[in-house]
Amino acid sequence: MNIHNPLPSHERNEPIYTPPTGPPQTDGIPSAVYEAMGEANIIAFFHAFYYRLGDSPIADMFPKSEKNLMRAADKSADMFTFLFGGPHLYQRKHGQPMMRARHIPFVITEQARQSWLVCYRETLDEAVEKFSMPAEHVDAVWKFVTAFSVWMVNAQAPGDTQ
Ligand code: HEM
Repeated sequence: MNIHNPLPSHERNEPIYTPPTGPPQTDGIPSAVYEAMGEANIIAFFHAFYYRLGDSPIADMFPKSEKNLMRAADKSADMFTFLFGGPHLYQRKHGQPMMRARHIPFVITEQARQSWLVCYRETLDEAVEKFSMPAEHVDAVWKFVTAFSVWMVNAQAPGDTQ
């Protein structure tokens, strides 16, 4: 077994961990973010984010080839276009978001979430300058992803408390 990418709990006949806080209750992100960035900058943001993920402690979860890594980045960009207040690109191309369900095939612990958030934060820190994200809304984006990502956690590591 590869310790970096063990079988998801449902394939080990173990119950899937569900965060006790339930589905996220978060404020939406102002649509001014989409309006200022536009689709091209959102795609560029998610390419930069996925390059970081591909070189992070959770790289094993993501596609190895650059082409497939960027394909995965494009899917996330479609979702975040909607979350940033733009059109429902993800839903049109891929159907219902079902974000937690779509992450179940991957083993996502709190530690993995923290690695994911480090990559997101680094990308956010260059987003005003490089991707035209409005500076006054950076905090709203960060609040949203820190809260929403809790709901993607589906596994506990030894020593996790909740
Ligand atoms: C704000 C929270 C998050 C959002 C909105 C989000 C969004 C997405 C979306 C839209 C996809 C594509 C799903 C599909 O159509 O198959 C995806 C895939 C994925 N996400 Fe997330 N995600 C979040 C958090 C996380 C976290 C915390 C992790 C891991 C620590 C993670 C790991 C992955 C992986 C491994 C994939 C599959 C990549 C591939 O296509 O190979 N995500 N995510």
